[in-house]
Order: sequence, then C-alpha cells, then structure tokens
Amino acid sequence: MLEVNGLSVAYGQSEVVHDLSFAVGTGEIVALMGRNGMGKTTTFKALMGILGIRSGSVRVNGQELSASAPHQRVRSGLAYVPQGRMIFPNLTVRENIMTGLQTRACAIPQDVFTLFPVLLEMSQRRGGNLSGGQQQQLAIARALTTNPSVLLLDEPTEGIQPSIIKDLARVLKEIRTLRGLTIVVSEQVLSFALAVADRLLVIERGQIVDEVTAMSGAAERVSRYLSV
Ligand SMILES: Nc1ncnc2c1ncn2[C@@H]1O[C@H](COP(=O)(O)OP(=O)(O)O)[C@@H](O)[C@H]1O
Ligand SMILES: [Mg+2]
Repeated sequence: MLEVNGLSVAYGQSEVVHDLSFAVGTGEIVALMGRNGMGKTTTFKALMGILGIRSGSVRVNGQELSASAPHQRVRSGLAYVPQGRMIFPNLTVRENIMTGLQTRACAIPQDVFTLFPVLLEMSQRRGGNLSGGQQQQLAIARALTTNPSVLLLDEPTEGIQPSIIKDLARVLKEIRTLRGLTIVVSEQVLSFALAVADRLLVIERGQIVDEVTAMSGAAERVSRYLSV
C-alpha cells in the first residue's frame, strides 16, 4: 500500500510537482499517465528520496518515509525501475541482478528466474548485449531482489518493440498476483496502461487532473490528455 499526500517537488525555485496526492492499494496496479515534461519522473524520484521534496508525506504500508534516505526506503519495501532502465552494461546479467541484493551472500529469489526464464539462459551475458525488452526484464528482476511491497516503474515501454509490450503487461500482472505487490507505472502508451492497470491517473504540469478505472470509455477519456 502506497499513500502519497500533498507532495510538492521543486528544482531550485521552480516547483514542478504541486501538492500531489494519491493512494494505491495492496495488489493494485495504477498507471500514472502524462505527456513528456508533466512530472512523472520527478514524482518517482521524490518517492524514492533521490530528489528532496518541498513538502508532503510518503507512506508505505503505513510507515512514513519522506525523511528517509533512498536505501532505507528500499528496506521499507519501495523498489524502483528508473526511466531508461539504467542497468550496468558491463556487468553480466547475474551480476546486475545481484546489485539489488543486500550482501553477496544473499540469494537471488527463485521466482525471478521463473518470471524471466530468458535471464537464466543469459545469466553470463553482459547486460549491454541484451535487447531493450530483455534489459527491461533485467531491471525489473533487479528491483524484485529486495522483495518490495511497492514497485515503481518509470515508462517501462519506452524503446521497447510493440510485440514485447504485451508480454510486459502480462508479467507485471503475474508479479502482482504472485507477490501481492502494489505497482505504479508511469506511461505515455495508452494501450499498455489499459492492459496492465486497474486505474489510471492523469498528471498534467505536476498535478493529478483526472482519474479513471480501466473500463470502457477510459481510452477516449485519457487519450485527449496524451495527444499534443
Ligand atoms: N534536473 C532538472 N532541473 C530542472 N528542471 C527539471 C529537471 N528535470 C526535470 N525538470 C523539469 O521538470 C518538469 C517535469 O519533468 P519530468 O519529471 O522529467 O517529466 P516527465 O517524466 O513526465 O517527462 C519538466 O518541466 C522538466 O523540464
Ligand atoms: Mg520521465
């Protein structure tokens, strides 16, 4: 369960996220929809503690995290797949996954390879040699090694072939079911958001301006925010 209340974030004097509030329940998948520059990445970085905030509250399973360092938030159950994935191209697939573990003695959770069999096949390959879709799976696998209860994914379909996008939606729903995760995914691709999410929030200029459940009519209603 993720609860965000009154979150405001600024770069210097320029506030770009204004008084943002939303909650995502346990086992729920929510898509944060918005065009480029609307504040999706800024919001996620602030939730992780990578960016400082002006004000607001971030709670995971009831625990207040807004004053905690990023690694403490991870320990409290938050995990993050950044925009552009940010895997280590020169490390092997296995080494990339292990960067998520607290110590080298910790084991990689077994369901990671059940969810992403291709990563087991390619475990000795360099991350940089994987396709975009495989790198995205790797970034998700790495995020799952800390056994999070809330998973944030920033534009996971960016740079991924349309044929793979469906698989990504399926695997995220599988992870939600297997682990009872709370998932927030930022997106510009409406078809993916409708396939994966229970609920869609629309962000414009750092504010949530609309909210719809993923059912008939949602596509028309949300698409007008996304078209330029
Ligand atoms: N490091 C930064 N310094 C100053 N302004 C930034 C920085 N990063 C993003 N911004 C601005 O903040 C706003 C929101 O950006 P961002 O969160 O990256 O949007 P999105 O992820 O939705 O594309 C934009 O106006 C962008 O120009
Ligand atoms: Mg972004």
